[in-house]
Amino acid sequence: MPQVSMIPEACRILAVTPHNSRDIHFVVEAPKQGFTPEPGQFVMVSLPGIGEAPFSLAALPGEGTAEGTFEMLIRRIGRLTNLITQLKAGDVLYVRGPYGRRVEWDQFEESNLILLAGGLGLAPLRSFVRRALGRRDRFGRIDLLVGARSPDELLFRTDLLVWASRQDDVHVHLTVDAAREGWDGRIGVITSLLDGLAVDTAGTTAFLCGPPVMYRHCLRRLLAMGLYEHNLWLTLERRMKCGLGLCGNCQVDGHYLCSEGPLVSYREVRHLRDVV
Ligand SMILES: Cc1cc2nc3c(=O)[nH]c(=O)nc-3n(C[C@H](O)[C@H](O)[C@H](O)COP(=O)(O)OP(=O)(O)OC[C@H]3O[C@@H](n4cnc5c(N)ncnc54)[C@H](O)[C@@H]3O)c2cc1C
Ligand code: FES
Repeated sequence: MPQVSMIPEACRILAVTPHNSRDIHFVVEAPKQGFTPEPGQFVMVSLPGIGEAPFSLAALPGEGTAEGTFEMLIRRIGRLTNLITQLKAGDVLYVRGPYGRRVEWDQFEESNLILLAGGLGLAPLRSFVRRALGRRDRFGRIDLLVGARSPDELLFRTDLLVWASRQDDVHVHLTVDAAREGWDGRIGVITSLLDGLAVDTAGTTAFLCGPPVMYRHCLRRLLAMGLYEHNLWLTLERRMKCGLGLCGNCQVDGHYLCSEGPLVSYREVRHLRDVV
């Protein structure tokens, strides 16, 4: 495993693109030391004197983005994210990582993939889609199911359009909870996208990332469809401080979600209290 630095490194922002009034997409120079992330890992990002927080990797270096760079989607929600989302190209952020469990992708090869992304959950799952499309011949059918509260909150719309145009490679299914005039797509919760999906239950792996309520409903539905517990993978996000398995902030029932997650299989965590 590569040696990961625990010291935040100054990394320049290369591009900033707002997706809506509160979700901002950043392309950032990657840390120089040991930065070889896997999908599902995260970085700790800080501004000196303000604070530090975990953010998912929306693109990994060299996987749909240039070598030596990575991408994040940051939602303005509190003090730190309010300041980060005001930064411009050329400004500097402090980054350490990648952290989190490195899940071996070889185990998913030959599998059909269902990726379920609710809201901001598309940020981490975007790097999963890119990984799978970069090695397309090694996977079966790929279905990407995306739910958002409204059409304006659909993230990564350019990617969604590009992926939707590659119907032989990936099947994109979108839904919104509530629509405005002009939306002619589906309206309904993300679980409704599972209706009528043809699934080879034994040969399918599902990845879920979104709000807790989505996990409850989607897991129940995927299990009822016959998918195996060990083939259901969730990204569990809890408040984190160190990101390294030291402080205990992210602990649930003795499990450190920063180092043992955030990507976990349902079989590993279904017995934990308050997890899903
Ligand atoms: C592994 C991981 C990956 C993440 N990836 C992303 C990402 O890609 N993009 C993104 O925008 N955010 C992501 N987050 C959440 C992000 O870390 C928080 O939004 C950030 O810490 C907020 O900092 P703040 O100072 O702006 O807000 P704060 O003032 O710290 O918090 C504002 C509000 O958000 C709540 N909150 C903050 N963090 C969490 C959390 N982890 N779970 C539930 N509620 C929380 C607080 O309770 C408070 O109500 C991720 C979190 C984790 C654990
Ligand atoms: S965030 Fe410190 S132990 Fe997980």
